[in-house]
Amino acid sequence: MRILSGIQPTGILHIGNYFGMMRPAIALQDEGEALYFIADYHALTSIREPTVLRENSRRVALDFLACGLNPDKAALFRQSDVPQVTELAWILSTITPVSRLELAHSYKDKIARGAAAAAGLFIYPVLMAADILIYDSDIVPVGKDQKQHLEITRDIAARINETFGSKRKAQSEPDGQILKLPETRIQPQTEVVPGIDGQKMSKSYGNTIDIFGDEKEMRKRVMSIVTDSTPVDAPKDPETSTIVQLYGLVASKEEVDDMREQFRKGGRGYGDFKKQLFEKLWDYFAPMRKRRDEILRHEDYVEGVLAQGAKRANSIADGVMKRVRQAVGL
Ligand code: ADP
Ligand code: TRP
Repeated sequence: MRILSGIQPTGILHIGNYFGMMRPAIALQDEGEALYFIADYHALTSIREPTVLRENSRRVALDFLACGLNPDKAALFRQSDVPQVTELAWILSTITPVSRLELAHSYKDKIARGAAAAAGLFIYPVLMAADILIYDSDIVPVGKDQKQHLEITRDIAARINETFGSKRKAQSEPDGQILKLPETRIQPQTEVVPGIDGQKMSKSYGNTIDIFGDEKEMRKRVMSIVTDSTPVDAPKDPETSTIVQLYGLVASKEEVDDMREQFRKGGRGYGDFKKQLFEKLWDYFAPMRKRRDEILRHEDYVEGVLAQGAKRANSIADGVMKRVRQAVGL
């Protein structure tokens, strides 16, 4: 079973990225052959500073390794170290209906938030489909916001198979399938990690809690979680609370039940609960911070991991591209 996922190096990683994508991805490295990449081609749709893109990519690799990605089990690489994906993206784009891309939420959202309507942004889902299909991926762990992109990916793969497969039988594939349809894996409990304003946590909303922020910064972010103005003594609703929701990510079931109970009872202010959440969060990420410091002591370690990952990814991509090129007549 091959597991694949990618993350854009568009900023500093936050706990929404961690619980929504990185943690499930890291857990899956024990269940099959995992391939994880840093989507730097995708990030070019929004970053125009070469030094920023390069530095972010290096940092995402470092942080992913610090969070527990084991390079002996999972390949970690830069998307741009496998330039074949852009070739596959072109081939896929030739059978992708514009109308299908026009329905993509992420494009519409980005334009609504002021991004220029670049062609690259529009065909972003096609490049993403190529990322997935070029490795014959079985499972793609992502956050809920990527669900539609995965539907587009499956749709594109099916169109390629219909157009160039089955009837004509690609010789290398016994069932006549050229591209494998991947399965989306969304973690139900952590579908959407809320940010400090209660909306989805996202670097574009400025509402994040960063995984590797320093202590002061993380404390400040947690203490700024937006709450209502229920007085200290009054009972509070745990069901709608961002504090409780975030606490649920890092505390045991008993600890969360206890916090819920104290919310309902009244007598403790939100500030108090936030402090409790901060302590738990800070401790949760302590082993990752330690590992990160260790990695930073070995200057070439990250580059070495990326080179090894790229080699593995290239060998798979070359095989699939050979099949695709042959099937379409190149
Ligand atoms: P951002 O929204 O901060 O720009 P990305 O879009 O780069 O984050 O997301 C990277 C990965 O992390 C994706 O798989 C995405 O689904 C996941 N992710 C991002 N934010 C969240 C969140 N708040 N809750 C759950 N998963 C998230
Ligand atoms: N679009 C994804 C995001 O913004 C990143 C990504 C690019 C990706 N290619 C991928 C994720 C392939 C999974 C598989 O988070």
